[in-house]
Amino acid sequence: MAGLNFLHTPGPTFLPEEILNAMNRQPLDFGDERIAELVAGIQPDLQTLFQTRADVFIYIANGHGGWEATLSNICDPGDTVVIPMTGFFSSRWVEVARALGLEIIEVRSTDGHDVDYAAVEKILSEDRSHKIKAVLGTQIDTGAGVAHDIKRFRGCLDAAAHPALLVADCIASLGAAEFRMDEWGVDVAITGSQKALMMPPGLALVAANDKAKAIAAANVRPKLYWDWQARNSEIIYHRFCGTLPIHLLFGLRAALDLILEEGLERRIQRHQRVASAVQAAVAEWVKGGDMEFFVPEENCRSVSVTAIRVVSDNASAETIRKLARHQFNVSIAGGLASLENQIIRIGHLGVVNTPMILGCLGGLEATFEHLGVRYRSGLSAAAKVLSTPL
Ligand SMILES: Cc1ncc(COP(=O)(O)O)c(C=O)c1O
Repeated sequence: MAGLNFLHTPGPTFLPEEILNAMNRQPLDFGDERIAELVAGIQPDLQTLFQTRADVFIYIANGHGGWEATLSNICDPGDTVVIPMTGFFSSRWVEVARALGLEIIEVRSTDGHDVDYAAVEKILSEDRSHKIKAVLGTQIDTGAGVAHDIKRFRGCLDAAAHPALLVADCIASLGAAEFRMDEWGVDVAITGSQKALMMPPGLALVAANDKAKAIAAANVRPKLYWDWQARNSEIIYHRFCGTLPIHLLFGLRAALDLILEEGLERRIQRHQRVASAVQAAVAEWVKGGDMEFFVPEENCRSVSVTAIRVVSDNASAETIRKLARHQFNVSIAGGLASLENQIIRIGHLGVVNTPMILGCLGGLEATFEHLGVRYRSGLSAAAKVLSTPL
């Protein structure tokens, strides 16, 4: 259909014109002093984004690269890590850890629910020899749409007086949800460009504090591309372990300008409001009986993505998703792995404003109408949430 396409997956997200335009230019040569200025200027703004004084390493990679970069530095083969299971992406993190030869203690929780923090604390308390090297926590797992409390992971470590590192995956949350790396006692934090940062995929950003870097320096695992020590070079070429991703850096500069201009606090409030609007609409939809919230507890629903279980006799989750995409110009995400064709997921992170999210919800309602999915319209409930100025 003619007109705009509404991209509402939880990454990649809609690219603002300012970011597209910033990348629409010829590259500079590496010797150009503007490159050094660009790289030097990005670092403090990334620290503001992560709320940290730690170094932020920039990799040409996706989120998986950010995980591998982190684990390659902080863990030697045979080391043990604790991974609270939060959904599809914590399972992928387990795969990465396994591939790097780590021992993994998985902490199970029920689908769609928060992590069992008491179980995490128990595991840490019982580890008297301190063989556990790190706790790998996810703030928002886009596979399930559940928000987790990174501060509580720190609480578990402190209660057990355990020295393990706290690593936070804030790939789907940084720039959308509150995150305070230093204040919350996070040692390593990982994000990716293609989510709340509103950029194309291609950059993994990893903030590592002095404690994490000291552990990395003492480790013996062979590596080069991921190596924090090698990247701490004065030579810009070595800081990227090769050719700089110049266009992605132009884009990152523009993204940081947009984020800082909006203000972190206001941006987080905007995300909360848009998420509340989506969830107010879904609360109406479910009254028709063909859908359910995948995350039953309201306070665990995330600001980045809302997951909805489809239980309709008239259409499956994938039928809804395909029709929405091809006939109504709305792209949403589906379920991953065991949730394939069970749920739909609406992404609402990045540059989403009022008409964008109402357009997405409206396109989905047109899809339900077309397929005979029973629902009660949620547009007015969403508009009500969005009607007050921020
Ligand atoms: C929380 C979280 N971690 C990690 C990833 C993996 O990122 P990527 O697909 O860029 O490797 C995702 C992707 O959606 C994610 O949501």
